[in-house]
Order: sequence, then structure tokens, then C-alpha cells
Amino acid sequence: MTALAVANLTVSYGDVVAVRDVSFAFDAGEVFVLLGANGAGKTSILRCISGLVPARSGTTVSGERSLNGLSPHEVARAGISHVPEGRRIFPNLSVEENLTVSFIPRGSDRGTVLAAVYKLFPRLAERRRQFGGTLSGGEQQMLAIGRALMNSPALLMLDEPSLGLSPVLADLVFERLAAINAQGTTILLVEQNATCLELATHGVILQNGRVLLAGDRAALQDSDFVRRAYLGI
Ligand SMILES: Nc1ncnc2c1ncn2[C@@H]1O[C@H](COP(=O)(O)OP(=O)(O)OP(=O)(O)O)[C@@H](O)[C@H]1O
Ligand SMILES: [Mg+2]
Repeated sequence: MTALAVANLTVSYGDVVAVRDVSFAFDAGEVFVLLGANGAGKTSILRCISGLVPARSGTTVSGERSLNGLSPHEVARAGISHVPEGRRIFPNLSVEENLTVSFIPRGSDRGTVLAAVYKLFPRLAERRRQFGGTLSGGEQQMLAIGRALMNSPALLMLDEPSLGLSPVLADLVFERLAAINAQGTTILLVEQNATCLELATHGVILQNGRVLLAGDRAALQDSDFVRRAYLGI
């Protein structure tokens, strides 16, 4: 089943066209990657899917359901969670409060979902009474992901979760995403960091708001663009 289909999407801010006629689709169970440099339009695509910015033209469809025109809350209720760029956790709430305020009932009860998040991220369980703002960068990223999981999403979208993390911590985040995917959650991962391709089933490379290349993991890893721009070859 198609988890998400984006067709001919264009997003603009006044005269600035951030995303030009972008199309891609992926099936339930995949880890689909949007890879691109600064300003490629990655965040704009996620924000448009989430209902945070309108599309100028084009469609976004999840399963059988059109997402066009839905509010961010309606998109979340449809089972799509968004971990935003920069994490945006609540600094003055405890770790546990950050998680519980983000709960959306979609089957399982709150305690069950919380326990599953703590199982994935034992560090968050250890720090459950600590203020969000006092966590390290890596812990804050785990909290941001944990918060998105409180919606029991079918599709988890993440905007550069490795940004600002050491390579070791970035690998830890990618390893947890693989575990989340193995439990049945489809992932749409936005990154500049090409090491995320290890996780990918398929993806696209974006440049200046356009799709430069689409393909499976091997095709993306072997592309001249990735070899030159990301791996320094
Ligand atoms: N609110 C806005 N108003 C005007 N222009 C914007 C706005 N948000 C983004 N843009 C422009 O749209 C283009 C794409 O931005 P976007 O944030 O989607 O890129 P990105 O791929 O996420 O970049 P980064 O890797 O730096 O986060 C950029 O040229 C940016 O300046
Ligand atoms: Mg961005």
C-alpha cells in the first residue's frame, strides 16, 4: 500500500519558490529519504505535508486519503507525526510531561505508548523528571522523536534528526530509527547527512527545490551527486 504520494508539489513564499513540481511516493514499511543541501526545499516539503504551509499546487495523499487542506492537528490524527527541524521540545516541562502532552489516542492507552517510548529510549526513562531544556542535544533529539511516537504514527517524518550531533550520536539516532521501522512504522527522513542512506529503502535527492535523482538505496549511494557532494569522492 502507498504510505504517501506527493505529486507535482510546488510551495512558494511570496515570490520565492522553495519547491518546484516535486513528485515521489513510497509504500508502507519503507524508510524513504529526502536528501539535499541547505535550501533544497526539504523542510518546506515536510511542512506542507503536515499542513503548516499551503501548497501552491500539487497533491499529497496518504493511503486513500487526501491531506490537502488539512490542519496540522488533522494530519497528526491521520497518523502522521512530524519531528521538526531544531527539535522544539518544551524546555520548561519535564521529559515525561513533554511526552504525555503529545499523546493522541489512536488505539493504545497513554501508559502503554509511554512504556514503549521508554523501552526504545531508556535514557529518557532515567531522565523522566528532568526539565527538557537541561537535556543534552542528543537526549533532546531522542525526546523529540519520543514525543512524535506518542501519536502512535503510521508514518513518522523527521527533519534532519542528526543535525548538530556527533557522528556517534547521529549513528545512535539512525539505529533507533531502524528499530522503530522494524516495529512497523514507515519513515520519511529528511537529511543532509548521506550516512542516513544506510537506512533507506528508496529516496530522492533534491537540489534547488527540484528532484535531481530518484531511486533505491544503491542508486542514490552510487550517484555522482552523493559521491561528490557528500562523500568527498
Ligand atoms: N518562511 C519563508 N519565507 C521565505 N522564504 C523561505 C521561507 N522558508 C523557506 N524559505 C526559502 O525556501 C527555500 C527552501 O527552504 P527550506 O527550509 O525548505 O530548505 P531546506 O532544504 O530545509 O534547507 P536546510 O537544509 O537549510 O534546512 C530557501 O531558499 C529558503 O530561503
Ligand atoms: Mg530544513
